[in-house]
Amino acid sequence: MVIRDARFVMSNTRVDLCPSGTLPEYAFIGRSNVGKSSLINMLTGRNALAKTSSLPGKTQLINHFLINDEWYLVDLPGYGYARVSKESREKWGKMIRAYLSKRENLSCLFVLIDSRLPPQAVDLEFINMVGEMGVPFALVFTKADKQSGSRTRQNVEVFLEKMRESWEELPAWFISSAVAKEGRDALLGFIDDVNRQ
Ligand code: GTP
Ligand code: MG
Repeated sequence: MVIRDARFVMSNTRVDLCPSGTLPEYAFIGRSNVGKSSLINMLTGRNALAKTSSLPGKTQLINHFLINDEWYLVDLPGYGYARVSKESREKWGKMIRAYLSKRENLSCLFVLIDSRLPPQAVDLEFINMVGEMGVPFALVFTKADKQSGSRTRQNVEVFLEKMRESWEELPAWFISSAVAKEGRDALLGFIDDVNRQ
C-alpha cells in the first residue's frame, strides 16, 4: 500500500469527540515507551507525525491521523508505567475502555509488545481484557533491531506459547523495528486486507 497522505486530525480525551466514525481505524496501544508513536511514524514515513520521547508517558491523548483520506491510524497513551498516580491510571483505564467499547469503526487494535522481554503480566492482562471486550486485535513485537533475529523469534515464541494457555486461536502477529523499518510492508498489507473485507 502506498501512503500518499498522512495528516494529524485531532487529539482528545473523549471518545464522543473523536472524528465521526465512518472510516475504518487502526489503533496502537501497549506499555509506555514500547514504541507506539514511533511505529506510526515508521508506517507513514513521516518522522514527526506522532510525538515520540525516550521518556515514558509522552502520548496522553487519543490522537487521530487520517491516511489517504480513507482510514485512520490512532495513537493511544500507554499503560504500565510505574511512576504514574493511581488517579491517572484510573483515568487512563476509563478513557481506553470507553474508546474500545464505543468505537465501532475500530477495525483492529494493534497491541505492541517489547520483543526483548519475557511475557509481562501487564500485557497479558491487557490482552485478556481486549479479548473479553470482543475487540479485534493483533500483536506487534517491537524494537527488533535491539537484538538478534533469533533472539526476537525465541521471545515471540515464548509469548505465543504463554497465550496458548488461555487462547484457542492466536491473533495475527508481526515483528517490527521503527529504526530498521522492519515490518512495514507486512503491517500495511494486513491493514489493506482488513480494509477490503
Ligand atoms: P508513550 O507515548 O510514552 O506511551 O510511548 P510510545 O509507546 O509511543 O513510545 P515512543 O514511540 O515514544 O518510543 C519510545 C522510545 O523508544 C523512543 O526513544 C524511541 O526512539 C524508541 N523506539 C521506538 N521504537 C523503536 C525501535 O523500533 N527501535 C529502537 N531501537 N528504538 C525504538
Ligand atoms: Mg506515544
